[in-house]
Amino acid sequence: MLTDLRLRDFRCFENLAVDLARGTNFFLGLNGQGKTTILEAACVLLRLQSQRVSSLAPAIQVGKNSFGLRGIFDGHELEFRYGRLQRRVTFDRVEQRTFQEYLRIARVVSFANSDIELVHGGSDARRRYLDFLGTQINVTYRPTLRAYERALRARNALLKSLMPRTRERAAYDSMLLHHGAQLLRLRQEIAAILAPSATAAYARISGGHETLELQFLPGASEDFRRDLVHSREEEARLRQTVVGPHRDDFELRIDGMRAPQYASEGQQRSAALALKIAQAEAFHRFSDKTAPLLLIDDIFGELDPERRNALLDHLPLNSQKLITATAMPWRSEITADAIYELRDRQPVRERRT
Ligand SMILES: Nc1ncnc2c1ncn2[C@@H]1O[C@H](COP(=O)(O)OP(=O)(O)OP(=O)(O)O)[C@@H](O)[C@H]1O
Ligand SMILES: [Mg+2]
Repeated sequence: MLTDLRLRDFRCFENLAVDLARGTNFFLGLNGQGKTTILEAACVLLRLQSQRVSSLAPAIQVGKNSFGLRGIFDGHELEFRYGRLQRRVTFDRVEQRTFQEYLRIARVVSFANSDIELVHGGSDARRRYLDFLGTQINVTYRPTLRAYERALRARNALLKSLMPRTRERAAYDSMLLHHGAQLLRLRQEIAAILAPSATAAYARISGGHETLELQFLPGASEDFRRDLVHSREEEARLRQTVVGPHRDDFELRIDGMRAPQYASEGQQRSAALALKIAQAEAFHRFSDKTAPLLLIDDIFGELDPERRNALLDHLPLNSQKLITATAMPWRSEITADAIYELRDRQPVRERRT
């Protein structure tokens, strides 16, 4: 579990120390008090990436050059400093050259209102969802993803140049094919892990009345090389790579109908919830069984009591949870290990006698 979380110049906090409890931690406060910021700090510290956005630069406090995060996870001291020009990762006070050992320590799953993007948003949200899990359960995932992104950027730059030379192009193609085939395979594996879990979670949430299916749609077939050759004309026209895992996606169907077009608002929310529960369960079954830290941002109050219970009942029991809400009229139904109220951007822990 995570304890002794410290933030420096991170979004609205210049200096903040939060002493987290084992089990369920609630953060209550009005809009803009910094609830999401505390959850984001936990995620960035443990995973070196935000659960919300792809870039960390906007987390640096306005007017500052860097932010710092620190915390203890399962007895290990983690520290991350991020500046416009430098990044420093320290594990048990030893500066790390690669992130591998550091990232092995903790797992995170995040629930937020924006999860509904997974159902009706663009395919990049769904790829990020697969990647968020992939990088946490397979050590080769992150380097493979980065290598593919680099190969893709380089190849697209070449396609944009006026006269890409054939020999140059062949070299770029082989990089793209090599890393792309690996990434496709990894994403396929992740989707295969998630699909049955998401179906089961959705059945529980809907009381067994409806079914959710998840089907992976790869951005290239088994024969990526042939697809690349066949896409030459379109590539020449658009001047970018049009097949490959950067086009991976998955389709969601509820009772056989495509969710973004046909599902109701409530069904879409349930599907998003099922996808995240599936993520949380995946750790339990397929990695080293380290329970993930669960970040539950602002969705709790929005859920009806049934879905609130479905969520609590089906999350890994031994997980530490950070949950935010603006108010808690359902306070009495819930057992919390710690409740913090944020006032003037200071979390004050409620003392219970
Ligand atoms: N880089 C930054 N520098 C300074 N302040 C920032 C920065 N980024 C965000 N903020 C401020 O941080 C404040 C807290 O934001 P946060 O999203 O954590 O609030 P919240 O408690 O989750 O609110 P809500 O209930 O509306 O979701 C906001 O008022 C925002 O303006
Ligand atoms: Mg918020």
